[in-house]
Amino acid sequence: MNNAETVIVLDFGGQYKQLIARRVRECGVYCEIHPYTLSADRIREMSPKGIILTGGPNSVYEEGSPSCGRELFELGIPVLGICYGSQLMAYVLGGEVRHADVSEYGHTELYVMPEDPADSSIMKDVSGRSICWMSHTDRIFSVPSGFETTARTDVCPVAAMEDRERKLFAVQFHPEVEHTQEGMKIFRNFLYGACGCSGSWKMSSFIETSVRELKEKIGTGQVLLGLSGGVDSSVAAALLSRAVGRQLTCVFVDHGLLRKNEADEVEAVFGKKGDFDLNFVRVNAAERFYLKLAGVTDPEMKRKIIGAEFISVFSEEAAKLGKTDFLAQGTIYPDVVESGAGNGGAVIKSHHNVGGLPDHLDFKEVIEPLRMLFKDEVRSLGLELGLPRKLVYRQPFPGPGLGVRIVGDITAEKVRIVQEADAIFRQELDRAGIDTGKGQFFAALTNMRSVGVMGDGRTYDYAVALRGVLTNDFMTASACEIPWDVLQTCMNRIIGEVGGVNRVFYDLTRKSPGTIELE
Ligand code: XMP
Repeated sequence: MNNAETVIVLDFGGQYKQLIARRVRECGVYCEIHPYTLSADRIREMSPKGIILTGGPNSVYEEGSPSCGRELFELGIPVLGICYGSQLMAYVLGGEVRHADVSEYGHTELYVMPEDPADSSIMKDVSGRSICWMSHTDRIFSVPSGFETTARTDVCPVAAMEDRERKLFAVQFHPEVEHTQEGMKIFRNFLYGACGCSGSWKMSSFIETSVRELKEKIGTGQVLLGLSGGVDSSVAAALLSRAVGRQLTCVFVDHGLLRKNEADEVEAVFGKKGDFDLNFVRVNAAERFYLKLAGVTDPEMKRKIIGAEFISVFSEEAAKLGKTDFLAQGTIYPDVVESGAGNGGAVIKSHHNVGGLPDHLDFKEVIEPLRMLFKDEVRSLGLELGLPRKLVYRQPFPGPGLGVRIVGDITAEKVRIVQEADAIFRQELDRAGIDTGKGQFFAALTNMRSVGVMGDGRTYDYAVALRGVLTNDFMTASACEIPWDVLQTCMNRIIGEVGGVNRVFYDLTRKSPGTIELE
């Protein structure tokens, strides 16, 4: 286990499990998510400070639904059950859980009872009336012996219950969801009060324990990492370098579809002149990619070619290095996907093809040192490890790079145009102080050429599209309102400085119906 003071989240299939883990870490307590099938014996060995049971879509009284034995509640470790987890606690310990006629969903008024909860209650300091987030149909109708009801809603007689003696707590609502106004108080009460956590976990402790674990696992082995220059692989490289130094080789493939100067910037950080102790191999493969892409216009075909060529180049480099024991990847928590196992049990499984890395290469093991972290945690880890802020906070950039920002076929000339235009656009956004942190801002090359005049001559040149979108989740996005004068400056500079362009468009399209990238 990663830390002396750890809380484990047992996953019963709830959609908010990542959020629960995040809230716990926000309280300065290290947290890991495990499948609900983790045995009580194993939990005893791990000796966590507390256990949290997640929600889930099943009904506790149905045969075959994810469950746990009574012994989980007899380990002497404080337990907090949330939603399905609360029903499970009630059911396993002898309370009554039934289907109700009315579901409770969304913002719901919560009444804490009694009004002045005991000091050791997880409802301590929670207002008598507040708003919580509910999402359930089954509910607890009677609490197990030893438990006391500590909150209700208009339709739910047991919205929270606890047995403070045995340190068993349950909430029907979701304290992890931000709509629950006082959810963090409940987490703090559970973690600092019931579990006795000190809340001293921080990124530096994560580095310390990860480095120790990586050293143990890797021993004298060799590690290979595909470095894209993106946040995740860069942070993974920095962390592994801290752990095993030159046993780590980072292969950076410049596919010729990166942004202007990007390859040099990556080399400046990780290459010989950089601050990190590792082997850095840069492969300049632009020509190879352009050759394979010549004349290809279909967007999906372009993606496939770029992905396949990347694997070829990477595999060739791996073969040159000789025997490598471990393949490292910058997989982060949101990349970790869940796959249902057997009777609906949840098993956390890794998404191993992140970044399109080869899975046919022969490695002893894949190492994913960031797999428990969220993006913002990865960023703070990156800063803590000494990566430049610019790299740590860079905008997301697609794996196929400018390949999905050049409509139609790709040529070196088109890449040059889009790189130059993009650099100007981003420079002007910075100069104007526009916050680009909440979206994606880039130039793309439309495949359209049109008639224009430059000086005394007629031109027949390309149109560049500028795209700036604001988004929370990249699933939907809307065009960012960029001041007219900034757009004018970009237009003037792009047409004046980038040869081959005579029109600049600003792309107003939302996602959906559009996508963020053009291809
Ligand atoms: P779209 O264009 O689908 O983009 O609205 C959503 C997010 O995904 C990124 N994107 C990609 N990333 N390979 C990637 O690694 C791809 O083929 C790809 N296509 C889009 C895009 O940059 C945005 O952040």
